[in-house]
Amino acid sequence: MPQVPAIKIKRIISEDSGWKDSFTAFYSDCEIKKLAPGQAHAYFAAYSGSELAGHSVLYLENGRWVMDGLRVKPEFRQMGIAKRLTEARLRHAVKNGAGEVWYSCEDGNLVTICCHLGFGFEKVCPDNHRCSLATAHWYRLKITPAVLKNISATKSTLPSKIPGSRKKR
Ligand SMILES: CC(C)(COP(=O)(O)OP(=O)(O)OC[C@H]1O[C@@H](n2cnc3c(N)ncnc32)[C@H](O)[C@@H]1OP(=O)(O)O)[C@@H](O)C(=O)NCCC(=O)NCCS
Repeated sequence: MPQVPAIKIKRIISEDSGWKDSFTAFYSDCEIKKLAPGQAHAYFAAYSGSELAGHSVLYLENGRWVMDGLRVKPEFRQMGIAKRLTEARLRHAVKNGAGEVWYSCEDGNLVTICCHLGFGFEKVCPDNHRCSLATAHWYRLKITPAVLKNISATKSTLPSKIPGSRKKR
């Protein structure tokens, strides 16, 4: 069985038309946050060769670093890609002075919640937000020495995986 090329996690430096087209196709069936012109942000993508396997964003809004848009193509799931995209975003936030990082998620999105709980995110209702069963909920990660240690031990390249050989849960 052929091997999938190693997965590389990259920050998108040039948001050129090629990237924009693949971004639009990647999120064609779901809503993705539209950033304001000039809003501080960083997109991180996972590539298998030239194929976009996963994508995510981190942006600064009202003084808070917020993670959003985490998505991995079904055939690349459960290989640790989301975790590495999140580590890359956390490192970027820390490098830019973040003392905490946020994301919001609906209660039904258990996989995404599980994916972030491991980093130490905690459910918090921020000031000016009214949490209810119908709203998405906010999660916050305070950047502590333990978090820094956790996110510094990351590799940007994953070993090759054979399709269908994902770990069992
Ligand atoms: C949520 C999502 C990003 C996870 O991606 P992934 O690359 O498969 O996740 P990882 O392999 O990095 O797993 C990270 C953690 O997530 C959790 N997780 C991932 N898949 C899981 C599953 N099927 N069941 C339970 N937990 C799971 C685990 O806690 C895992 O950590 P562990 O390996 O230490 O146990 C992916 O499932 C996805 O893209 N889902 C659809 C999201 C989407 O389309 N949202 C719309 C917004 S645009």
